[in-house]
Amino acid sequence: MPPHTPAAVIEAQRQDWNRVAAGWDKWDQFFNRTMAFINHRLVADARIRPGLRVLDLGSGTGYPAILAGEVVGSDGTVVGMDLAESMLAVATRKAKTLGLQQVSFRTGDVTALPFESGSIDSIISRFCLMFLPEIPKAAAEIARVLKPGGYVAAAVWSSPDKNPFIRIPMDVIKTITPLPPPDPEAPGIFRLARPGDLAGIFERAGLTVLDDEEFTAEVTYSTAEEFFRGLMDIAAPIQNLFATLTPAQQAEAERGIIKMVNDYRRAEGVSLPIAVRIVSARKPR
Ligand SMILES: C[S@@+](CC[C@H](N)C(=O)[O-])C[C@H]1O[C@@H](n2cnc3c(N)ncnc32)[C@H](O)[C@@H]1O
Repeated sequence: MPPHTPAAVIEAQRQDWNRVAAGWDKWDQFFNRTMAFINHRLVADARIRPGLRVLDLGSGTGYPAILAGEVVGSDGTVVGMDLAESMLAVATRKAKTLGLQQVSFRTGDVTALPFESGSIDSIISRFCLMFLPEIPKAAAEIARVLKPGGYVAAAVWSSPDKNPFIRIPMDVIKTITPLPPPDPEAPGIFRLARPGDLAGIFERAGLTVLDDEEFTAEVTYSTAEEFFRGLMDIAAPIQNLFATLTPAQQAEAERGIIKMVNDYRRAEGVSLPIAVRIVSARKPR
């Protein structure tokens, strides 16, 4: 398969996220607490309420599907879709533990939604859409499966300068080995960072954009070393960059990242800013 075809990108994504599923499971409670505000915002922006039929695109280990499941209650349904079956195995276990029978997960590519046109009330998605090789196709699918008047709300990462937890590792690795200049159109963490990027794609799919807003917060780790362990456990794109380094270069990168992250030391630990863009839209009635 040629390396940059949509099918090749999707297969690479599937392998990447399956590889880090155990790490996501390990850090589940930490990220559940620190990122909860995003789930709540998505549920609010997609106007989720009891009894609705909801889709979560790129659900991973169940965010924000599980919160949506609590809101729709036993009269509603939530389906979380993801490429990575190992991520979904964690999500399924969590939903079962919480007794959320209305929440289910299925593997698949969110660029081709296996649902009838006009059958879904609300669609939510956290940190998935920027990894898709064909975002406009996914937006067209969102517009197709939503009921008239239905809502979509999606969270993506804002720009690297406001997200040092990713920018620092990339900057440090760049000092050790040359990285190709980022292609702003290629799938990746910051592909939808700019205001208007995702909103424009939704508009062109025929949706009416309601909001395109950046939210800032901080994620606090007890030490820079703890941050580094978390990063290597869950961040598939950073793991891929590390894999191109020799063991000596990896050790150098680890020291460099820990040193720079220590600049964010506060009384309560190491507090790293994050900036998330949340875009919401509605299908015209
Ligand atoms: C950063 S994780 C986010 C998971 C979860 N939504 C969260 O916020 O914790 C990105 C997820 O998107 C999924 N993904 C990437 N491309 C996809 C595609 N084309 N179809 C379905 N899922 C995809 C990955 O498998 C991965 O689980």
